Amino acid sequence: MDDSKAPLWGRIADNVASLTPENPYRTQEDKPRLLIVGAGMMGREHLRVSQRLGWAEVQGVVDPFDGSIDWAQSDWALLSSRPLQVYADLREACLDSAVDAIVICSPNHTHYETLQIVCESGKPILLEKPMATTLTDAMEMVRLARSYPSVIQLGMQYRFKAQYVEALFEIQAQASLGAVKTIAMSEYRPPFLDKVNQWNKFNRHSGGTLVEKCCHYFDLMNVIAASRPKKVYASGGRGVNFLDFEWQGELSDIDDHAMVIIDYDNGIRASFTLNMFCQELYEELVVVGECGRLVASEQASFHPDTPSEARLQVEVPGHPAYRPQGVGYPPWIEETGHYGATFFEHIAFHQQLAGETVDAATPQQALWSLIVASAAQHSLAMGQAVEVAAFCAQEGAGDFFEGHQVD
Ligand SMILES: NC(=O)c1ccc[n+]([C@@H]2O[C@H](COP(=O)([O-])OP(=O)(O)OC[C@H]3O[C@@H](n4cnc5c(N)ncnc54)[C@H](O)[C@@H]3O)[C@@H](O)[C@H]2O)c1
Repeated sequence: MDDSKAPLWGRIADNVASLTPENPYRTQEDKPRLLIVGAGMMGREHLRVSQRLGWAEVQGVVDPFDGSIDWAQSDWALLSSRPLQVYADLREACLDSAVDAIVICSPNHTHYETLQIVCESGKPILLEKPMATTLTDAMEMVRLARSYPSVIQLGMQYRFKAQYVEALFEIQAQASLGAVKTIAMSEYRPPFLDKVNQWNKFNRHSGGTLVEKCCHYFDLMNVIAASRPKKVYASGGRGVNFLDFEWQGELSDIDDHAMVIIDYDNGIRASFTLNMFCQELYEELVVVGECGRLVASEQASFHPDTPSEARLQVEVPGHPAYRPQGVGYPPWIEETGHYGATFFEHIAFHQQLAGETVDAATPQQALWSLIVASAAQHSLAMGQAVEVAAFCAQEGAGDFFEGHQVD
């Protein structure tokens, strides 16, 4: 492993210690058998991660698009000699006794209906982000999850990116910054990629850009703030991307840049900047507390053979990372997808199946991220600040807002 990616202070080192390419998950007996619902880009990442980590078998896939099935099967042939069953019917697939757990990675607007059917199985579920495209649907899903007999883990796997694992450890467990006062996150990146039927070019399919992409960041900000969002103001729109993009007679309506400000109940102030007309990817988290400042950043690229570079800096007197330090997972883990985040998401899912408590997002936490994202999307459309309590009441999530704290 390149030195610049050497793990820092224990947290990541502990996490990767036993994870050589011949890690113990690979030799484990009685591996759970997964069903992948939606065999597109993310479904194929889940196929890859399950096999590179080696914790699970994949029993089969469900996808209405033959092109995705073909793509998944050719990927699968490189990963395993086992057959990959192609199911024509979702309900039948979920109820098949050969399936032990289900990963839902179909497009956002299908999550609500898909979850209703998958839940008939009572089996553990990993559901991709965002949980839904509307708060009303997400609220129903949280109700369903409350009485569900098994695990429902949400795909906010940015929590497992190396720089954020270390940042959360510093902010929470180590309390290195003291009481947090401000949080600023930003993402600069190229435009949305092509998707099957271009669902991510339309607000009604994706939930809007701030829901589709930025729920990851709102989740991290909520976890750090550990408080309910009180007021959200967003300004943004369509600057450069897909201005004339048309698919099946419909013009794209997705935004490509935004600035969002969030006031939390506990006085923490947060901001988020998104710009999606850049050449390269750059992500940054800056948290300032009463004792100092933390900066977690990642420079990455969609260009092949360009490694990512993540850094962490903790500007607190005497801290070993007072000057920026490289942080990352071994390359064989990072290359499985999302710089290793999905890999550790699978480990968390495996631990949940064994009854362990993990740092993965619960349906409630996913709903909090959707609340912030939807309020920001609404603010952007209305051109004024949104009181989150009133917005939740209007969108059918008022009882949830009143009755819960962000945990
Ligand atoms: N966690 C992350 O970082 C991350 C990254 C990318 C995508 N995602 C999420 O994963 C999901 C899929 O995104 P993608 O990039 O793979 O999109 P994609 O378009 O590449 O793949 C989606 C697949 O789902 C299939 N599909 C459509 N309707 C379906 C249905 N009702 N049942 C089963 N399959 C269906 C499509 O045919 C397609 O093959 C989205 O919710 C997206 O937001 C998460």
